[in-house]
Amino acid sequence: NVHDVRAVWTSEEGSMAKETAETRWAKIIQGTVDDIGETAAAEDVDNQKRVESIAIQIALKEIKENIKQNKALTPLQDDGKPDIQEWNKQLAAIGGCSWINCPWLFGECYMYRRIQRILNSSKHWKNYDVFKRQKDSTFVKSRAAVAELASRYVQVVADTTLAQTESKEEAKKVLFIEMTEIALWGNATDLSLLANLTLEDLQKLQGSEAIQKSQRNIVDNDTDDVWGYLQRTAGQTSRQIDIVLDNAGFELFTDVLYAAYLLDSGISTSVRLHAKEFPWFVSDVTASDVDSLFEHLDSGECFPDREYLDQLVPRLRKLFQSGAITITSDPFWTTPFSFHEMPSKAPALFKELQNSYMVIFKGDLNYRKLTRDGLWPHITTYEEALGPLGKQSGVKILALRTNKSDVCVGVSNQSKVDRLNEEAPGGAWIRNGKYAVVSFNEGQ
Ligand code: F6P
Ligand code: MG
Repeated sequence: NVHDVRAVWTSEEGSMAKETAETRWAKIIQGTVDDIGETAAAEDVDNQKRVESIAIQIALKEIKENIKQNKALTPLQDDGKPDIQEWNKQLAAIGGCSWINCPWLFGECYMYRRIQRILNSSKHWKNYDVFKRQKDSTFVKSRAAVAELASRYVQVVADTTLAQTESKEEAKKVLFIEMTEIALWGNATDLSLLANLTLEDLQKLQGSEAIQKSQRNIVDNDTDDVWGYLQRTAGQTSRQIDIVLDNAGFELFTDVLYAAYLLDSGISTSVRLHAKEFPWFVSDVTASDVDSLFEHLDSGECFPDREYLDQLVPRLRKLFQSGAITITSDPFWTTPFSFHEMPSKAPALFKELQNSYMVIFKGDLNYRKLTRDGLWPHITTYEEALGPLGKQSGVKILALRTNKSDVCVGVSNQSKVDRLNEEAPGGAWIRNGKYAVVSFNEGQ
C-alpha cells in the first residue's frame, strides 16, 4: 500500500538525506553568500544595490547558521508571491520539524524557496540567479564532451536519414538507445553533488565511450518497452513529447540534442521543455539558462573549433524558432509536493500531461518526486511507486535518472538487489550517481 511506505527524513541514520542535510546544505548556502559578494564587488555595481547585498548576505548566513544548529523550520515570511501560504500550510501539516529532522524532500525544497524569498523581497536583486555563475563555469569545463557530442550528433542525423530511407528497424533502435543514454548520463553531472567530484571524474562521466560502458549500470532498464510503445503508436497524428528538465549546462545540452533527435527521427511532432520558475537545486534549468546555453555554443572563445557546432547550432536554433521545440514552466515544479499530489494540487498541469504523447522526467529530484521520496523495497514496481501517476493515470512516464538519493524501485528481483549490494555496498548503487534507471510506465 502506497501510504504504508515512509518518505525519507533527514534524521534517518545512514541515509543520503542525513548526509546531505548535515554536510551539503550549509556549503550550498555559503556558495550563494560568496556569489552575491562577488557580484556586488564589481566596479559597475550601483551603490544601493551594493548596500543591499550586505543585508542579503546576512539573511543567507542566518539560514546557514540555522541549518548548522538544527533549528526549527519556521513559516516563510510573505514576499508577495501566492505560493507562500501553501508552503506554510504544508509545514504546519508536517508539524514541528527541524533541518536535521524533517522530510528530506520538503526540507530541501524549503531551503531553495527560502533563498528565493530573500531575493524576492529585495529591491535590486529580485531576478538575480545566485547559481548562474556556477552553472556557467561548469558548462565551460564540459567543453570537450560538448564538442564530442556535437560531432556525434551531426553523424547520428545522417545515420537516421539513412535508416529511414532503408527502413532498417534495428539501426533506428540502436540510435534511439544511444540518444536516450546520452540524455540519461547527462544527468550524472549535476552541480549539487559536484562538491564531491573532481574535474577528472566529471570528464570520465561524459563522452560516448563512457556511456557505452555504463549500460550495465542501468538497474531498471525499460528501453525496449519505450521503443515498443513508440513503434506501436507511430501512426498518431499529434505526438507531443514533454521533457521535464533537470540541470542546466551539459545536461541541458544533451536534452536539447535529444529533443532535436526525437523530432528529426520523426518519433515526435513537437517537444515541450519544462523549466523552473526560479533558481532551484543549484543547477536546475530556468528559462534564461536556455539563452545562456546558446550564448556559450555561439562563443568562439568557448568553442574555437567550430567545425561541427556551426552545423549543429543553427539547426537547433531553427527548431526553437519554428516552435517545434518550446519552453514552458509551471509553478508546481518549484513546490515541495511530490508528484503524487499533482492531480489534486495542479489539476490543469496533470491534464496536460495526460494529453502528452510521452512525458520524460529528467534527473534525481524528479524521480524522488515521482516516487514520493519513499523508502520502497527496491523490487517494488515502478508503476506502484508512481501512485496516482501509475496505474490507469493515462500518463506515459519515462524517467531518465542517475541514482543520487535514497530511493530506487523497479529492480526485477531480490537476487539482483543482493548482487548490487555486493557490488556497491552501503547503498552506493542508489546514491553515487554511477548507476541509473530508465523506467517507463504507460499509465494503463
Ligand atoms: O543531495 C543531492 C541532491 O541535492 C538531491 O537532493 C537531489 O535529488 C539531487 O542532488 C539533485 O540531482 P538532480 O539534479 O539529478 O535532480
Ligand atoms: Mg537538478
